[in-house]
Amino acid sequence: MARQFFVGGNFKMNPATQADKLALAKVLNEAELDPATEVVISPPALYLIPLKEAIRKDIKVAAQNCYLKDSGAFTGEISPAQLADAQIPYVILGHSERRTIFHETSEIVAQKTRAALDKGLSVILCIGETLKEREAEETAKVCQAQLKAAVDVLKEGDWSKIVIAYEPVWAIGTGKVATPQQAQQAHVDIRSYLSKVVSSSVADSIRIIYGGSVSAANCKELSTLPDVDGFLVGGASLKPEFVQIVNSKK
Ligand code: G3H
Repeated sequence: MARQFFVGGNFKMNPATQADKLALAKVLNEAELDPATEVVISPPALYLIPLKEAIRKDIKVAAQNCYLKDSGAFTGEISPAQLADAQIPYVILGHSERRTIFHETSEIVAQKTRAALDKGLSVILCIGETLKEREAEETAKVCQAQLKAAVDVLKEGDWSKIVIAYEPVWAIGTGKVATPQQAQQAHVDIRSYLSKVVSSSVADSIRIIYGGSVSAANCKELSTLPDVDGFLVGGASLKPEFVQIVNSKK
């Protein structure tokens, strides 16, 4: 089954100023982008609405996180209902920085995923192993455990609104990209797990994107891998080279 290539730019807690954000939007607005690739950029929450207005219409925006409830006394949080009301179509959930720094468990990530889907949002669901886990040959096991929590709360039809981002923690922001063999194998393992516990049609149709030190220099080769359906880009999404990454299939 043909899966549309997907490139996400996760700005994390960047850029530092409004002016920098608008400069990034300008680069993308003026670039020639592969129309066959779905492009989503994810600024800090403060910038979601202005960036949505400033960016060309064929680029979508994503929140970097959301909470489980629609409203209430949850200081500092944004709800899926609020994102939906602001017509933000995507949310990134389960990023390793949320898991590690903010202690989000796979169960919380799964509940957030459920809540986001219930409001009509699409979810970029991040999973991935640490270096210690890779060295212990536990990559597949760790990814499966992280996914299982979502499998437990999602119905088969929900998976069409999910993009899985496989992001090995040791590759994030380190300049140490996974080898094509490592990325391909992890994606195959994720697909075969989903085939076993959800369905073969979900496993065939779901997009599994790779994240971790993706750059203009390595994106071409990774984009040719049969089970790599795109990228979630951190640092390089803040630079003009993001355009080359979006166009890596061209
Ligand atoms: O969400 C993006 C990932 O954390 C990758 O970040 O491209 O800076 O390694 P990076």
